[in-house]
Amino acid sequence: VNHLLGIKYLNKKDIELIFETADHFKEVINRPIKKVPSLRDITIANLFFENSTRTKLSFELAEKRLSADVINFSSAQSSVKKGETLIDTVNNILSMKVDMIVMRHPNPGAGVFLSNHVKASIINAGDGAHEHPTQALLDSFSIRERLGEVAGKKVVIVGDILHSRVALSNIFALQLQGAEVMVCGPKTLLPKYIDTLGVKVETNLRKALNWCDVANMLRVQNERMDISYFPTTREYTQQFGVTKEILDSLDKEITIMHPGPINRGVEITSDVADSDQAIILDQVQNGVAVRMAVIYLLASKIK
Ligand code: CP
Repeated sequence: VNHLLGIKYLNKKDIELIFETADHFKEVINRPIKKVPSLRDITIANLFFENSTRTKLSFELAEKRLSADVINFSSAQSSVKKGETLIDTVNNILSMKVDMIVMRHPNPGAGVFLSNHVKASIINAGDGAHEHPTQALLDSFSIRERLGEVAGKKVVIVGDILHSRVALSNIFALQLQGAEVMVCGPKTLLPKYIDTLGVKVETNLRKALNWCDVANMLRVQNERMDISYFPTTREYTQQFGVTKEILDSLDKEITIMHPGPINRGVEITSDVADSDQAIILDQVQNGVAVRMAVIYLLASKIK
């Protein structure tokens, strides 16, 4: 398959190969000359139909570190605003001899839809509340880096599970690698199908944190809510916000993760986000090597 549309299409060996390749690229990007010539013959278009800081810049940097030619498309400044469809947009871009599409889109399944209608390798950079596969890969890569391995680790994903593509991709990725997964959040922000995912469910934050080795703290995605969900931000922070005082009261030191962007003072306080227990900027740094690995491996199939 020449796409990365979701973690649900990968197996354990795929993830191991991506991580071994990312180990190599992590070493490369720590050299004085951070580039390799591997993809000089590949052109990649980054299509962002939804806002992004980390994913957009990380993909662009990964592509440039691999020496690919890169073009960037933001729907807000494009002819999508004049009514052009997704398929027409992408086919016009592909006619300029583009080999690979990286796409973020607000609609779940947009990547799968596109892969059925155009002739190019597609990487899903986040599709609505569905999947964000490269985020889950860089998250697991960062757990492996901090704790030695992912297998056997207890990981709790805290917060707005209902609207989170990061949660779903992380659940799939962690389970494939043999981690135990728990979700913790208000019942109103858990999906109805949560019982089908093979995860533990906890609504008490302290119990969840006492259980885990790693807590991945999610942002409440107000932009995906068309009504006001309970709890309010203040109530959410009181019940699910992680503070230094809570971390210090636990029996062991846990690792704190966050995919970004952080709402400081809502899901975690600044002293937690900036502490040595947090690997939030390591996640961002690892994203470049992991995305280089994904792009390199997919490109090797289309050459
Ligand atoms: N983690 C993540 O996807 O961040 P951005 O929305 O800034 O890309």
